[in-house]
Order: sequence, then C-alpha cells, then structure tokens
Amino acid sequence: MLDADSDAALDVANELARAWLAGTGQRLVTASADAATVLASLPAALPSTGMEPAAVLRELAACAEPGLAGTGSGRYLALVTGGVLPSALGADWLVSAWDQNASFGELYPAAVAIEHAAGRWILDLLDLPEESAVGFTTGAQGANTATLLAARNAVLAAHGYDVEAHGLQGAPRVNVVVGDEQHSTVFRSLRFAGLGADTAIRIPTDEQGRMIPSALTAALETLDGPTIVYAQAGNVNGGGFDPIAEIADIVDARRGRRSVDDTWFHIDGAFGLWVRAGHRHRSLADGSERADSWTCDAHKWLNVPYDCGISIVRDPQVLARAIGLKAAYLPAPGGIPNPVDLVPEASRRARGIPVWAAIRALGRDGLADLIDRGCDRAAELAAQLRQSAGIHVRAAEINQIIIGCDATPTRSAQERTQDVLEAVVAEGDCYPSSTVWKGEFGIRLSVSNWRTDEDDVSAIVASLERAVAGSA
Ligand SMILES: Cc1ncc(COP(=O)(O)O)c(C=O)c1O
Repeated sequence: MLDADSDAALDVANELARAWLAGTGQRLVTASADAATVLASLPAALPSTGMEPAAVLRELAACAEPGLAGTGSGRYLALVTGGVLPSALGADWLVSAWDQNASFGELYPAAVAIEHAAGRWILDLLDLPEESAVGFTTGAQGANTATLLAARNAVLAAHGYDVEAHGLQGAPRVNVVVGDEQHSTVFRSLRFAGLGADTAIRIPTDEQGRMIPSALTAALETLDGPTIVYAQAGNVNGGGFDPIAEIADIVDARRGRRSVDDTWFHIDGAFGLWVRAGHRHRSLADGSERADSWTCDAHKWLNVPYDCGISIVRDPQVLARAIGLKAAYLPAPGGIPNPVDLVPEASRRARGIPVWAAIRALGRDGLADLIDRGCDRAAELAAQLRQSAGIHVRAAEINQIIIGCDATPTRSAQERTQDVLEAVVAEGDCYPSSTVWKGEFGIRLSVSNWRTDEDDVSAIVASLERAVAGSA
C-alpha cells in the first residue's frame, strides 16, 4: 500500500499540474514575475523544520506560477519550443515514479529496452542508417558534444593517433569546417572538445543562411589532415537548410582524394531533421543519410518535455570508444547497447521513455501530420504577415519566420522592430523572441507546438499588428 505522504503528494501534484495545463491558452503566455521576484517569494532562510510533502508542493506552485512562461500555448513562439504531448507527459511522470537508472541493462532492463526501441523508431522515422547508435542526451547541445567527441577521435585515429589515451597533447591539428550560420552550440561543443571555437573554418552562407557549396569545395581543397565537416538542417533563425546532398558529394570527393579515411560529416538538425518524418518538406534534408553522425532534439518538434536531445552516430563502436564507460562496446543482455556507452553520463534518467510514448501515440502518420501542420501554420503566418502594413518578412522556411518592421519618421527600422517586440511581449497574448539576422535586429517566430492552430495564427498576427499600429 502506498504510504500516506506519497499518496497525498501525488494527489496534489496531479491537481496542480491539471490546473496549470487547464489554464493554457487562457492566461498570458509571458511570465508576470521575473526571477528576482520569484526568488523573493521563496523562504529566504533555510527552515529548520520540515513540512508535509503535499504542503511543500502547494507552496512551490504558489511561488513558481507567477514566473512560469506559457510554453504549452500554441502562441508561445520563442526559441524552438515544443509543447508537451499528453502521451509524453504521462510517460514522463512514470519515469519519475519508476526512477530507473537508464544506463545499465543488466540492472534496469525495462528502461534500457524501451529507450532502445525508441531509438530504432527514430532511425526509421528520420530514415537514417539502421546500424547507428542512438543516445538520449539532455538536448542538442549535449548531442553536438557527444557526436563531436566521436568525430574528433575517429579522424585522429585515421592518422594513428589515440586521443582516448593521450588526449590532445601532441595530436595532429583537426580541421573543423562549418557554415558561417552554424548554431552557437556547435562552437561551445568545440570548446568542450578542446578544439577551440575560433579555430573553426567558417564557410560563407547565402541570404537564407545556407552554406555555399563552391566555397566548401574550395576550402576542402586546401585542407590536409583530419577534417570534420558540419552541415545544418534548419537554421535556428530563418529555418534555412544547408544543401546537404551537395555537401555529401563534396565530402565524398575529398574522401576519394585521400589515402586515409580522415573525413567526418556531421549534421546538426536539432529541429530541422524532423522534416524527414513529415511529407511535404522532406526533400530539404535529402542526403542526410550519408552523414556519419547527427544531432536532433525531441524536446523541440517531437513535443516531449524537457530535457531530451538525440545524438546519433553511424558506427556505435566509434562512439563507445570515444565516450563509453568501458573501453569496448559491450552490449547489454539481448544485444541491446548499454546507454552508458551512448551518452556522456553514467547515472541518468530514462528520458527516452517519453519519446517512445510520443511516437507510439502519434504513429508514423500522426508525426508526419504534426510536422507538416507546424510548417503549414508557419506558412499561413508568414503569408498574413506579408499583407500586414509596416511588417516585412525577412526569412521564412519550414516552421521558422523572421520579421522586421518598417522605419517611421522618428524610429529606424531596427528601433521600431524592437519597440514592436517589447509591446507584443508586454501585452502577453503571444511570445515571439528576438534575434540578430544578417546584422540587423529581428523578431523571430518558431511554430513548434503541436497545439498551434489557425486561431493562434490569427491572434499572433493581430497582436503584431496592434503593436505596429501603436508604434506608428
Ligand atoms: C540547430 C540547433 N542546434 C542546436 C541547438 C541547441 O539545442 P538545445 O537547446 O536543445 O541544446 C539548437 C537550438 O535551437 C538548434 O536550433
């Protein structure tokens, strides 16, 4: 029988979570309190006596709620923010209740098996090589780091250098080639991997932020030695895709010229790779299956709760050698890899279980619909904004849009764009975020929530139009 404290705590958590979710779409999407205000509402001094768990949860929610952003709303457009599918939310609760350490199949067979099954489905949905290792990281940052460590070690191993044993002391130089619009987390991963953010060779991009293939060809012709080439499926601002198939051809051409296999091709598709699970925009990511490793995120477009990224490496042995806890790739019973050899953590939450539940609930068709719907809503939004006086659409691809506002006699275009964003956020009916695109301030809108519908699109346009009219 469940003890009384657990029973009461679960009841209260259930009640509070339901109330929070029921308010989605009714309350403002912006937090009304800032972090300092929330901090001030928490007990300042550490209490010497405890409190009943259920009462703790009530106090916690009362302090937190003013400072919670409405990420579950279809009008929350900041960053690339998925909502939470009911299946994934329920599974996430079970993950906490089950409290398994999803690293070792011998000890925690269900968690490891379910994550493995989720990984196989992801390879199927994204149409990536079935032999690949799939790890569930905290996010795309973690996936970019895990995959980079595998890439670094593989290209150095091709030169007979054992980075696992010797680190980078005395290693040959590794060339890292990225598009000029590569996501900032890749540069952070380069720092973590000891390769340095500033050493990356940046290839120019076009007006949509896509790598220019002829510039990549020219760069690779001059580069000798171990080389990692990055491509991006989905620019975090305007959604643009690097020309992946062309980049794969250029990488293959380099491989053909080399006497050693010292070239690695990685694709960061934190949200954009999901177009391969949809119908209408798949071709943007054609050729992705030719890479050696991939980054994706489940907490973005798959709409599972934070935190859940996906790192995929074609050769599981390479990954296990780079980050595994043991030197060799040792499968758990039943031929299932131990997650401890797939991600850089030892003890970890079974964050792949909500992924399994989300995919099981959607099915292949439901996920394709979720992705295509997001793109359709974003296309409607961009089309309506193009008709709005005082607004211009600067970039729009798949689920991402960047807009700017026209100048007035007293405010420059950038100043007015800032004014408009501030007014929209202050009103709180929708929540876009800011960016700098091609050197100019912009408002970015990311449609990644499974709930965003036509009414949300109209409301977002109306909110922006009110702000523009107010800033004329
Ligand atoms: C292309 C790309 N890579 C990496 C990331 C980082 O993702 P995360 O915040 O899950 O680490 C993002 C986030 O938007 C992204 O768009």
